[in-house]
Amino acid sequence: MKATARAHPNIALVKYWGKRDEALVLPHQSSLSLTLAPLQVTTTVEFGAASETVEINGHVAKGSERERVTSLLATVRSEAQRTLGPARVVSRGDFPASAGLASSAAAFAALAVAGRAAAGLAPDARRASILARQGSGSACRSVEGGFCEWQRGSAADGSDSFAVQRFGPGHWPGFRMVVAIVSRAEKDVKSRDGMRQTVETSPYYPAWCADAESEIARARAFIAGRDLEGLGALCERNAWRMHASALAADPPLCYLLPETLRLIQQVRELRQKGTPVWFTLDAGPNPVLLTDVAHELSAEALCLAAGATEVVRCGPGSDAALVEDALF
Ligand code: PMV
Repeated sequence: MKATARAHPNIALVKYWGKRDEALVLPHQSSLSLTLAPLQVTTTVEFGAASETVEINGHVAKGSERERVTSLLATVRSEAQRTLGPARVVSRGDFPASAGLASSAAAFAALAVAGRAAAGLAPDARRASILARQGSGSACRSVEGGFCEWQRGSAADGSDSFAVQRFGPGHWPGFRMVVAIVSRAEKDVKSRDGMRQTVETSPYYPAWCADAESEIARARAFIAGRDLEGLGALCERNAWRMHASALAADPPLCYLLPETLRLIQQVRELRQKGTPVWFTLDAGPNPVLLTDVAHELSAEALCLAAGATEVVRCGPGSDAALVEDALF
C-alpha cells in the first residue's frame, strides 16, 4: 500500500501550447521533449492513511495544488477498483529553490508511477503517462526517459493521448540542455490561462497548430542523426512561433524579459563565432540552451555573463522509476 517513485523534468523541443479539452488535458498538437537529468522529484504515496494529506517540499498543499493531486489519485482508485482509503502523499524535489523551472512535470510523473504501484496496479508506461497528463499536460512526457513524443490522439476520452519514448537516453549521451535562470518571479499569466487566451483570440493560432506534426517528424529525423545544428535551428524556430502565437493574443501575452532577449542575442553572437549553441523558451523568461558536452561550459559561461543568476547543466535523463527510499 506504499510506494515511492522518482522522475525527471522534461523540456519540449517541439512545444505543446493549447488544449482541445481542458478537463481531460488534451492538446491541439503533438509535442516532443527531452527528459532531463540530474534534476528530479521523489514522491511517496501510501493508501490507508488516517486522512488524505499532501505535503510538497515541506509544506502542506492546499487549494488547487492539493486538488490536482487528489483528483489524480481518485483516478488511480477507480482503476484499481477496490477500496484503498485516504492517501498520504509526500513529495520532494531537488530543484534549485524557487527556480524558474517547472517541477510539475517531474512531480506528476512521480505521483502517477508511485500512486499506481501503491494501489497494486501493474507497471504500465502508457497508463502512467495518461494519468500524469491529468495533473499537468507536459508531465505525460516525463514517465519515460530520453526523447519522448506526446501524441495528441483523437479519441474524445483521451485514451490515445499519451507520450511514447522515441529514443532512449543512451541514443545521444553527449546532448546537453543548459537552463539559464534570469528571473524567479511568478509569471503573470499561468500556462493554463495563457493557452486558453491564445487558442481563443490569436489569429496566428491555427498556423501554429498546422505545422506541429510535420515539425515533429523533422525533429525526429535530426535526433536520429544526432544533428545538433538541424535540431537547434528547428527548436529556436518552434519556440519563436509559440511565442508569436501568444504575442498575437488579445490581450497580448509576452513572457519575455529584457534579460531574455539579451541572453538570446549573445547565443547568436557565440554561434556566429563557431560555438554550437541554440536556445528554446517555454512560457516564461528563462532560456534553455541546446549544445553538446564539449561546449556546455561555454554555454554556462555565456549565461552567467549575460546576467543569469543560476545555471543548471542537464543531459538526457532516464525513465520515472520505483525506488526503495520512502520519504516517510
Ligand atoms: O504542461 P503545462 O501545463 O505545464 O504546459 C507546458 C507548456 C510549455 O512548457 C510551454 C510547452 C511544453 O510542451 O512543455
